[in-house]
Amino acid sequence: MNVLDRLETTLRVRGGYALSGSVQTHGAKNAALPIMAAALLSKTPVTLHRIPRITDVSVMWQLLESLGARLRTEGPGTVTIDASGVSTHRAPYTLVRKLAASFDLAGPLLGRFGAAEVPLPGGCVLGTRATDLHEQAFRALGADVSNAHGYLIAKTSGARLHGSDIEFRQPSVGATKNALLASVLAAGTTTLRNVAMEPEVVDLANFLNAMGAKVAGHGGDTIVIEGVAELHGVEYEIIPDRIVTGTLLLAACATRGDVTVERCAPAHLAVTMAKLAECGAKVTSGKDWLRVEADRITGGTDILTAPHPGFPTDLQPPMLGFLCTAPGTSVVEETIFNARFSYVNELARMGADVRVAIDNNTALIKGGTPLSGAPVEAPDIRAGAALVVAGLAAQGETEIIGLEYVDRGYERLEEMLSALGGQVQRASGVLPVDEPLGTFETTAYPKVV
Ligand code: EPZ
Repeated sequence: MNVLDRLETTLRVRGGYALSGSVQTHGAKNAALPIMAAALLSKTPVTLHRIPRITDVSVMWQLLESLGARLRTEGPGTVTIDASGVSTHRAPYTLVRKLAASFDLAGPLLGRFGAAEVPLPGGCVLGTRATDLHEQAFRALGADVSNAHGYLIAKTSGARLHGSDIEFRQPSVGATKNALLASVLAAGTTTLRNVAMEPEVVDLANFLNAMGAKVAGHGGDTIVIEGVAELHGVEYEIIPDRIVTGTLLLAACATRGDVTVERCAPAHLAVTMAKLAECGAKVTSGKDWLRVEADRITGGTDILTAPHPGFPTDLQPPMLGFLCTAPGTSVVEETIFNARFSYVNELARMGADVRVAIDNNTALIKGGTPLSGAPVEAPDIRAGAALVVAGLAAQGETEIIGLEYVDRGYERLEEMLSALGGQVQRASGVLPVDEPLGTFETTAYPKVV
């Protein structure tokens, strides 16, 4: 059986308990995945700390092994990747099919081998996952790019890619990452304009520089890369996960609790915290902690998702889950993905009053009506988090089917919430992945054959 086969796992949530106390967040999924892929660019090993124990990391682990890399766990959250033995530039469809982030492999394969064959990400529940901006960057760097049989095929005619001046029509996290990963070993200077400024993109650039790359301007709208001849191994710690941090604080707000998240990066959540303050929460922070006291939620607010530093699309679902509990009317407009409100129907089963406009990008929430526990189903990672947030506030018990989606992006979410007094338990027999696959046989996900 393949690790990606859908395993019916459920989370049982009993609502009505105010969360309180402190909890630590884990390393960022969306930094760990491209940084693991970036390890392909070095022939000497890299050691990564704070890698989250989530199934998306396990799939990336399997993908790198399938390409010939050797990986091993050095301790909780610490992984060493030796890509010296990688000898193929073709990623297998069986593993790529359910991890859109597998597309992050295209840039490093092209940068190292001058060729890459990676299955196209295909669609997902969030809407189309186009790749035209990735392809624009690869062509500008000197690769011939085509799509055949569901694969992106990129190949340089010369020995190496060459520098270029590339302007994206819109910021794209994935295309910015792939352009970075392909250009660090290119001959000459590459300028990327109108790039994504997400903290995970900045973390990737910092990691590449630690490996000996010459990247400047990351975090702004223009990045300049001086190509180098080779990169070397390094030891590096991944940034904290801002989406997990935000989800925990939104759960605090939905239950009118008082929660501190430690080992996080407050600066990554400035806009989100300002929105919680607009709803009446008291937000305080220090160097690496954020606290939300939510006993005085006075109303809702309006949300417009946008590229960083705007409100993150990945917090839109958990935010909407909280807004269902806040008195008054709120409006949530989703501008990044064209189908990210499918979970609203599940919230309606819990008594939420949410209407999605015909354009499918704007939701109107009439908050404050008490939610009632119900059996619901998670269609994706962050929608699952929204249902957990709503379940924690609902009267009675909510059973959330599709926990395997939540496990893709949250490391043992039920344990983090239970530590804060939440009545949450994993109801079926499937345990989360203890260690990334490839080193230990796990009872949860049989090793992919
Ligand atoms: C990353 O996806 C994240 N995933 C997503 O998080 C996140 O929601 C998204 O960035 C936006 O912040 C990872 O980092 C693994 P994009 P990505 O390229 O790279 C369109 C989660 O739950 N687009 O910025 O796919 C695209 O169709 C996940 O952790 C093009 O049109 O995001 C989409 O509408 C969900 N052409 C929009 O841009 C392209 O060539 C955003 O895509 C590329 C993208």
